Amino acid sequence: MNENNLLSQLKIATPSAESIIQPDWAIARGITLVVKRDDLLHPIISGNKWRKLKYALLQAHDNNVKHIVSFGGGFSNHVHALGYCCHQLNIQFTAIIRGDYSHNLSPMLRDLLSWGTDIQYVDRINYQQRAEPQYLQTLATKYPNALIIPEGGSQLQALKGVAEIIDELQNEYDYVLAPVASGGTLAGLVDGLAQTGKHDTSQLLGIAVLKGQEYLEQLVENLLTDRHHKSEWSISHDYHFGGYAKSNNELNQFCAAFEKQTQIALEPVYSGKLFYALYQLTINGYFPAGSRVLAIHTGGLQGAR
Ligand SMILES: Cc1ncc(COP(=O)(O)O)c(C=O)c1O
Repeated sequence: MNENNLLSQLKIATPSAESIIQPDWAIARGITLVVKRDDLLHPIISGNKWRKLKYALLQAHDNNVKHIVSFGGGFSNHVHALGYCCHQLNIQFTAIIRGDYSHNLSPMLRDLLSWGTDIQYVDRINYQQRAEPQYLQTLATKYPNALIIPEGGSQLQALKGVAEIIDELQNEYDYVLAPVASGGTLAGLVDGLAQTGKHDTSQLLGIAVLKGQEYLEQLVENLLTDRHHKSEWSISHDYHFGGYAKSNNELNQFCAAFEKQTQIALEPVYSGKLFYALYQLTINGYFPAGSRVLAIHTGGLQGAR
């Protein structure tokens, strides 16, 4: 299948828009704030999910793959998007889910069931082995013809799809910000900036959505190993609110106020932390007046149902 066929079969709306937003705090600091609306690429395969899965799905189709296996939590955006893609593309999907939700299905898991996904619940100890060669070998023996996609879709192939966010940009930016969890999105943006050459001066800032100083940097480095990357990147660890999926009133209120002012919906796990960080960095003078700042809205609103 070529790219256009896949895009039309899944009804993906690329390129996503680059929209200027004008919250009062950005105007007060004299910065131009732009949002890359990857959240609008598709109602289900939103944001970075599409970017990270695109080349894996194209290759799966070319290799006549009929079964895909992947991993995630009970609210995982990645598993949700992949489950939907497999359903649309007639590929059997096995989702290995951390924790037993069989008596307490999340909306995400209900969707998976309606799409015919084979759901396998595993306990946290087993789930921890998800990237270990021996465990992957056992899975490969159990599902001999399946393509195994790592958690979050963060594998080398994902970088190429994410880098297309940078290719699509119509404007130049001094700063580019995105949330970081399994590292594939940030690594793809690093690659994208290095490849196009057009945006060499942009500084890339990842916002950690979980506690993972050094660990997250290592994840990104591992994905970038042996590759030429000259763009500057770093990760801020100041806005995870105590860990993955942790939030508080301040964050929830920020998300609601932001949506009211900009008509852009946020959820507290990824985009809320990204835009809260953007807000704090702005009011604390991190971006010099006159800066052009791009935030990548990576979607994920299904997780907040
Ligand atoms: C909506 C959303 N945004 C951002 C991220 C973080 O991206 P990454 O895992 O590539 O660091 C994720 C997780 O994959 C996500 O689901």
